[in-house]
Amino acid sequence: CGIIGYIGRRDAAPLLLNGLKRLEYRGYDSAGMAVMNGSMQMLKKKGSVSNLEELLNVSGTVMLGATVGIAHTRWATHGDPSDRNAHPHMNVSGDIALIHNGIIENYSSLKQELIAEGYAFESDTDSEVLVHLIDRIWKNDPALGLEGAVRQALRHVDGAYGICVVSSREPDKIVVARKGSPLVIGLGEGEFFIASDAAPIVEHTNKVVYLSDGEMAVVTRDSYTVKTIENVEQQKRVTELDFSLEKIEKGGFEHFMLKEIFEQPEVMRDVMRGRVRVEEGLVHLGGIHDYLDRLKQAKRIVICACGTSWHAGLIGEYLIEEFARIPVEVDYASEFRYRNPIVSSDDVVIVISQSGETADTLAALRLAREKGAMVMGICNVVGSTIARETLCGMYTHAGPEVGVASTKAFTAQVIVLFMLAIAMSKGRTISHEEIRLNLRELAEVPDKVARILEQNDAIKEMAVKLKDARNALYLGRGYNFPVALEGALKLKEISYIHAEGYPAAEMKHGPIALIDEDMPVIVIATRDNTYAKILSNIEEVRSRKGRVIAIASEGDREIERLTKDVIYIPQASAAVLPLLTVIPLQLLSYHVATLRGCNVDRPRNLAKSVTVE
Ligand code: G6P
Repeated sequence: CGIIGYIGRRDAAPLLLNGLKRLEYRGYDSAGMAVMNGSMQMLKKKGSVSNLEELLNVSGTVMLGATVGIAHTRWATHGDPSDRNAHPHMNVSGDIALIHNGIIENYSSLKQELIAEGYAFESDTDSEVLVHLIDRIWKNDPALGLEGAVRQALRHVDGAYGICVVSSREPDKIVVARKGSPLVIGLGEGEFFIASDAAPIVEHTNKVVYLSDGEMAVVTRDSYTVKTIENVEQQKRVTELDFSLEKIEKGGFEHFMLKEIFEQPEVMRDVMRGRVRVEEGLVHLGGIHDYLDRLKQAKRIVICACGTSWHAGLIGEYLIEEFARIPVEVDYASEFRYRNPIVSSDDVVIVISQSGETADTLAALRLAREKGAMVMGICNVVGSTIARETLCGMYTHAGPEVGVASTKAFTAQVIVLFMLAIAMSKGRTISHEEIRLNLRELAEVPDKVARILEQNDAIKEMAVKLKDARNALYLGRGYNFPVALEGALKLKEISYIHAEGYPAAEMKHGPIALIDEDMPVIVIATRDNTYAKILSNIEEVRSRKGRVIAIASEGDREIERLTKDVIYIPQASAAVLPLLTVIPLQLLSYHVATLRGCNVDRPRNLAKSVTVE
């Protein structure tokens, strides 16, 4: 979910609405806002932010002219997406409004208590209990004020939250608190912004303060104070953001996802900038420099991540094992944390997360740290919780990724893992010459990706053939196996076509039963050491009348014998292939989804940043 709050001298409602649009990728089941305009005024609506905008245009005059307000875009956890479950939530007398990200785990017992005391609930959400709880505490002890009441209320709740609370009883402040759900304060001139990430803030100011878990802040027009929930004052560092508004706008592309796919050559160069020196055979990773020796001595590396980041982790496993010869295990963060994993101080745990906020990944990080492992992070969002809680790490520098389906962040993660694998093997497992060769291959990737992107129109035509499929199978081997998983994930995420990724050789142990003339099979068949085998796999599909789309290496004439639908990618060494083969798969799913009329940037039921478990 996304949070935006404003206090200052400008008209809050349009400003909040604009902020919600920038946050919409975090959730779009419903949206709402509350402003203080003498009394509390609230509007909320099921569906996208544009529905709220319509409502604001039609019946929002009471909202205009206010200079304090909070707004929210929701990704449902408790209670279906509907007008009444949208945030903000208000107390019965309508003078306190609250928005909440996260999950209140003990909401049900709190709700029973409050109902027994006569509190009437308007929604099915866990969040609503908070506002009634604050109301009850404040009524019992008016001297507490809004801040004190929020502070006391939070002592009663278990779970995760990022909250913003306003009240017409104390109209010139916003009280915020965080535990497990990110919150950042943007510092302007005579105005402040509060948000769940920096995206809606950058157009107003580049100075921000990140709240840490267990902190609260009281923000007025002229100042902000940060204390712990236990009421101990905190000194906070002001961070300067280094991304611009332009970077989070669509820049002429129809969708963020397409823009982000096309940004990849540039992003890849940014990821390597200052870090890779091909001719010297050097990789310099400032964020882990002091820990590299310990990393090289690790007995084992465990990579934890979710979703697309987990796929990058799988490629990392192949890279690190091949180059650095250290055993790697890749775990879903959610599984790792709940299966009493064997981790010790001999291990290094690497967590990978685009947002740096994924709740399961964060929990895996904390568990690994508790067990004494050295924990490193690979994150895209600078200053995110995971980035701050890891001992050391590397940023992917892919810039803000808005499309829910991850593209440029994924290739940036793979490049970081590539550089890491090389850095770990230097002086140990591979020769200087091999390092140079591999770095040269890596450095050539951005130009090769640009060449693949030139085939966008041809890929779009191929998408026409896929668009009515009900299922699809993605096959790959070696380095391309995780790419098959990622290709399938991209298709299902945004086009809602069921798709599965498989190691090509495993097909005969199950999925082959599904193959008939209606089943498209996308095969990654690049020229590497498994090429001959994969041709046999294609034959197996063809002899069962399956339709094959192949991703093959330029100059490969053999493949044309087997299928007419081929997307060619430039030749490259096996280890960099995933960075190339994934590109046509991203484009393919993008075009299939747009042909099917799907909302590419905001696929149903998905959120960009999942800060709940
Ligand atoms: C969500 C997103 C995915 C993403 C995953 C992990 O499910 O929809 O695109 O891969 O979270 O996110 P992270 O920010 O940790 O990489």
